[in-house]
Amino acid sequence: MDYQAVLDYIREAVEPAFGKGRVADYIPALASVPPRKFGMAIQLPDGRNFTTGDAAEPFSIQSISKLFVLQLVMSHLGDMVWTRVGKEPSGDRFNSMIKLEMEHGVPRNPFINPGALATLDLLMSLKGDTKQRLRDYLRYLSMNDTVQADPVVAQSEFEHAHLNRAMAHLMKGYDNIHMDVDELMETYCHQCAMTMSCVDLARAGLPLAMGGYSPLHEESVISTSQAKRINAVMLTCGTYDSVGSFAYRVGLPAKSGVGGGILAVVPGKMSICVWAPELDAFGNSYVGAAALEMFTSLTHTSIF
Ligand code: DON
Repeated sequence: MDYQAVLDYIREAVEPAFGKGRVADYIPALASVPPRKFGMAIQLPDGRNFTTGDAAEPFSIQSISKLFVLQLVMSHLGDMVWTRVGKEPSGDRFNSMIKLEMEHGVPRNPFINPGALATLDLLMSLKGDTKQRLRDYLRYLSMNDTVQADPVVAQSEFEHAHLNRAMAHLMKGYDNIHMDVDELMETYCHQCAMTMSCVDLARAGLPLAMGGYSPLHEESVISTSQAKRINAVMLTCGTYDSVGSFAYRVGLPAKSGVGGGILAVVPGKMSICVWAPELDAFGNSYVGAAALEMFTSLTHTSIF
């Protein structure tokens, strides 16, 4: 398979999809990202990678960070995370609180915002500096020691995090948040403001495609069973309330972020990251989803 030719073809073929989505503006610092950026990278287990467009340019990973926080929590605390969050799709927006009160402060899954807050709360219960732990983990997985948070984006989100703060307080009322809410919010905004490129994220996602084993590091990052479970939750919850149509179109476990990135996993074969900042109505990259749909159709790499 000539992956380079496929990626270059996709970069041209997605052109008509530009202008149909909108860059996230509810976090003001994200509104200034150039809307027409497009990058895509695939990482193979034999160490080869293929890229096109702006694949080496760092962007705000936003909710893709939730995947790595979940991975870290599972690697330290195992299945305990499932006592604090569920594993069902919510059918609501990623920042919705509508079910949270009815379900006594237990979020549906770790990828919607309340679920990510509960997961981070668990990570913060471990000894040590959580921000540094996450940064080091992302640097290790991506093999890039320059990975860091963008303080402007973190501050911008922190100042506008009214809904997330409300969720955290609601969950604290149900004893499903144990940390101080201000500290949790600050850490959450920092987590979402991590910047990485498509190349970085494709590398970081490879263990999920390889049963938890990182061929690039020649060691396991998580267990095979944990990789299976995380992929299952990505497939059913990773792209929020459009997860059904995303699975229908793309056919891969994936996690999106409002920075316009989507990280997708092809079990046994590769990881793929695409970045295009304009979002659909559900907060997923409009052009990115189209590019992934083309990729799986052209290369027959879906899990189905
Ligand atoms: O909490 C928020 O609203 C953002 N920091 C992250 C949301 C996000 O990326 C949702 N994904 N598509």
